[in-house]
Amino acid sequence: MKESQPSAIFLKDYKVPPFLIDKTELTFDLDEATTIVTSRLHMRRNPAFGKSTAPLVLDGGEDVKLIGVAMDDYSLPPEEYRISEGKLIITATADKFVFTCETLLEPQNNTRLEGLYRSSSMFCTQCEAEGFRHITYYLDRPDVMSVFTTTIIADQSRYPVLLSNGNEVERSKTDDGKTLVVWHDPFPKPAYLFALVAGDLAVKNDVFTTQSKRDVKLQIFTETHNIDKVDYAMEALKRSMRWDEEAYGREYDLDIFMIVAVDDFNMGAMENKGLNIFNSSCLLASPETTTDDSYLRVEAIVAHEYFHNWSGNRVTCRDWFQLSLKEGFTVFRDQTFSADMHSETVKRVEDVSFLKTAQFAEDAGPMAHPVRPASFIEISNFYTLTVYEKGAEIVRMIHTLLGKEKFRAGSDLYFNRHDGQAVTCDDFVAAMQDASGVDLTQFKRWYSQAGTPIVTVTDRFDAENGTYRLTMKQDTPATPGQPTKLPLHIPIRVGLLDELGNALSATVDNVNSEDHVLHLISNEQVFEFAGLTARPVPSLLRGFSAPVKLRYDYAPANLLLLMSADSDGFNRWSAAQQLAVNELNTLIKQSIDGETLSVNSQLAHGFKTLLSDASLDPAMVALVLALPSQAYLSELANPIYPAAIKQARQYLKAQLANTLAEDFERVYREHSISGEYQATAEDIAHRSLKNMALSYWVETKDETAHRIVLEQFQSANNMTDQFSALSIAVNSQHEKAAELLAAFYEQWKDEPLVVNKWLMLTASQEHDAALATVKGLMEHPAFDLKNPNKVRSVLGGFGQSMSGFHKEDGSGYRFLADQIILLNKRNPQIASRLCTPLTRWKKLQPELSVKMKAELERILSEELSKDVYEVVSKSLA
Ligand code: ARG
Ligand code: ZN
Repeated sequence: MKESQPSAIFLKDYKVPPFLIDKTELTFDLDEATTIVTSRLHMRRNPAFGKSTAPLVLDGGEDVKLIGVAMDDYSLPPEEYRISEGKLIITATADKFVFTCETLLEPQNNTRLEGLYRSSSMFCTQCEAEGFRHITYYLDRPDVMSVFTTTIIADQSRYPVLLSNGNEVERSKTDDGKTLVVWHDPFPKPAYLFALVAGDLAVKNDVFTTQSKRDVKLQIFTETHNIDKVDYAMEALKRSMRWDEEAYGREYDLDIFMIVAVDDFNMGAMENKGLNIFNSSCLLASPETTTDDSYLRVEAIVAHEYFHNWSGNRVTCRDWFQLSLKEGFTVFRDQTFSADMHSETVKRVEDVSFLKTAQFAEDAGPMAHPVRPASFIEISNFYTLTVYEKGAEIVRMIHTLLGKEKFRAGSDLYFNRHDGQAVTCDDFVAAMQDASGVDLTQFKRWYSQAGTPIVTVTDRFDAENGTYRLTMKQDTPATPGQPTKLPLHIPIRVGLLDELGNALSATVDNVNSEDHVLHLISNEQVFEFAGLTARPVPSLLRGFSAPVKLRYDYAPANLLLLMSADSDGFNRWSAAQQLAVNELNTLIKQSIDGETLSVNSQLAHGFKTLLSDASLDPAMVALVLALPSQAYLSELANPIYPAAIKQARQYLKAQLANTLAEDFERVYREHSISGEYQATAEDIAHRSLKNMALSYWVETKDETAHRIVLEQFQSANNMTDQFSALSIAVNSQHEKAAELLAAFYEQWKDEPLVVNKWLMLTASQEHDAALATVKGLMEHPAFDLKNPNKVRSVLGGFGQSMSGFHKEDGSGYRFLADQIILLNKRNPQIASRLCTPLTRWKKLQPELSVKMKAELERILSEELSKDVYEVVSKSLA
């Protein structure tokens, strides 16, 4: 263990910066061995800080070598500045001055992938959150906004493309024959939005005409061999630009918008001003190599990064505690965009399913934190599902409380009031409140209180006066550092059905409607519905109107009714999931108790109706047929018995398959579409139902089904169908599964993004040799520890495998811990993310829990990065 452990920083300690940087002039002299960065900062004391003689303290990193420092062109001798814990400190400064410093970097040795680094043959940057300090000494905080001018000097033949933020304003040759390009970004921005790219890149050009009839040049850059895979992203970009004008009145502001794809990237993508940088897995798409899911992901992430130009860049965050100000809002915006482009209900089901599986698990674990955290050790650890997804749910609830028009008035006020500023979540809520007149005082607790509220509902029908009463209780479990919780303002959308499934109107607070938004604001409240003649079936939490766990004791027959008849598409899915969860929980219990599994499945009836109703959206049918995942069942369980979960799920799937074999075969055939691949909602829907049906049908061990899996694998004209066939073969332990995996690799070994999918599928297999398989993959020529996508595929995939990861002797945990220790120094962000499955140790069955805990303790005994230290120490606390 280190002598001194890293310490936390707190929101309550926020102070405005003592200095401002009006202009930032950077020069990069790029070279393979060493890169020299010269920075000239036009600084002055911040009047808002008050009169002071505070020293100038600039952020830097250990990997930055300082060559020299000057003040107003006077070179400072070493005794006039000092460097302590990565910070450069100058005690005596004027009120206004130009600070210059020269730093030396070795981007080729930068394995953290923060700051300036090499990916394949190019140079690129990643500065959010605190990467800029790995380039030069700076006030690396988002409330310091500056106008950047960037000069890049590089060898013409190896780096013909030299990019940075804003507009190219100058291009010339240096005396030694290198190219010199100057970029100027007129919009003041924090350093986290700085970007630079240099390489021998191919480009695809396009033009977008804005609503005020300005032409914007659009450019997507990739390595030459990938340029044929950017058409879809380009179209998605244009759709996003149009949508933001229509839905939010936001027009693009520079004359050029560029996107670059890089292979080595810690996250999905980055919204640098005018120069977005993408993980190539989130940008490139072609029918042969990309699945439907990935197409939709590309579209959503292109939109997300583009939308940040307003929600993030024009209006940015005051400090990193406010991260959800830009991320929660931007996720909400991209979710709404995707819903508008495809199906609203399908999108909602997918988002909620993800939230309930992964964010709920985070909120129930040792890393639980409010959407606006109160403290952190390493900000990179707070790019979380809570900040992003739960943050988006908060914005969605504001939308529900205000209604569409007032919400838009609120967002207009927010953008106009704070354009060019670095602000807080409170400022966002204040704009929403001021524009709408809706009181959001209590609602704001959603930002500061962690944990998933549990809403328990009971009901009572009074036949004499025709009233139906819902009693709702809310209770948020304690989370680390927050032992007691206050009641939240929870919007609960509710409808009522009669016994045939017809919508009923009823009166609540003098409003008669088929659909009501109830405001649960106390610990316990009663809501009365008047004007009913018989006991209704409640459809609760329609559209998942709040991120809560709903408890209401539904009879299976009522779940079947909701599943087939509710006017709210989301709740039809939700009812099916609840029914499946109930049956699976019965089976899980039988498995734990060593009993023979058996269930009288009501679900089969529901599925049967669904499979024969041609009026339904096939994509919705496919989602309803998808049984709750092992991960979701683990989130619900306490304690978690991994083997029982796996067994129960396999049993129910086979059971349903055998009961409905003919329906699955028919549906498979009905939804097999021919023709050229298109990533449209309609075609995607057919493929998803077809492949879902096949995944059941093959469980019957029917020979035709088994042959069809092989045929589809061989004859598919698109990756969705080919990869589905492969996954189905692997997951159903098809006798040819190993052969198909080998054939797939052979066919696609030159397409890294396809190979990543293969690595993930191979690593997540459920079989006894799962751990050995994963160890083998780490030695495979396709594996590369330097590439985050490959690490995520193999180790992320492995973390999902119940048989491999949760091996009884703890060897799966030990293996993952070894990899975390290996990656801890090399790439702390990736290492820290890999810890997630280990943070669940307290919820595991006792025999496994102790083994997992021991691995966390072993990691903690190493010399750790701040990133890994924070997650592991909090998990053990
Ligand atoms: N702002 C980016 C996005 O959500 C995420 C970048 C975060 N990067 C990081 N290394 N923490 O669009
Ligand atoms: Zn974002």
